[in-house]
Amino acid sequence: METTHLTVTTSSPGQTLALGRRLAALLEPGDVICLFGQLGAGKTCLVQGICLGLGAEEGAVSPSFTLVNEYLGRLPVFHFDCYRLDGPRDLDQIGYDDYLGRDGVVLIEWAERIGSRLPDERLDVRMERVSDDVRRITLEPRGPRWQGSGIEKMQA
Ligand SMILES: Nc1ncnc2c1ncn2[C@@H]1O[C@H](COP(=O)(O)OP(=O)(O)OP(=O)(O)O)[C@@H](O)[C@H]1O
Ligand SMILES: [Mg+2]
Repeated sequence: METTHLTVTTSSPGQTLALGRRLAALLEPGDVICLFGQLGAGKTCLVQGICLGLGAEEGAVSPSFTLVNEYLGRLPVFHFDCYRLDGPRDLDQIGYDDYLGRDGVVLIEWAERIGSRLPDERLDVRMERVSDDVRRITLEPRGPRWQGSGIEKMQA
C-alpha cells in the first residue's frame, strides 16, 4: 500500500516544535528530510523540534553561512541550508554526498535549490504560511522506507 500525503496545521511555533519532536521519534539512520517553503515558513523551527526530539540539546541554528551544521543526539544530525548555495560545486566542496552515506539524519532547508541532488528515498515536508501564526505542513513520504513507519499517525 502506498503511504499517502499528510497535511498538518499548526497554530504556533510551539506546535511546530512539537510536530518535529514526534517526527524525530520515527527517524532511523540514513533518513533524509527535505524542507520546502518560503522565508519564515517555519523550516528551522521544525528542524529545532526534530533536534530536541533526538536529544541534540544544543538546538539548531540556521546554517545559512556555513551551509551545514552538525549536531549529536540519539543519531547524528546534518542540517543543511541551501538558500545561499551558489551551485552544485558548493555541495561537492562540503562533501554533501558523503553526508548522505553517514548513517545520520540529513535535514535540508531550501531543498528546491538542489532538486537534482536529492535522493529518491526521502521525506518531503512542504511548509506554507497561512497567517502570522498558522502554518500548513504537508508530509510527502517517498520510497519504501516510509511505508509502515508510523508517519501516517502524525496527524493527531
Ligand atoms: N505555526 C508556526 N510554526 C512555525 N513558526 C511559526 C509559526 N507561527 C509563527 N511562526 C514564526 O515564523 C518564523 C519561522 O521562522 P523559521 O526560521 O523557522 O523559518 P524558515 O522557514 O527556516 O525561514 P528561512 O527560509 O529564512 O530559513 C519564526 O519567527 C516563528 O516564530
Ligand atoms: Mg531556516
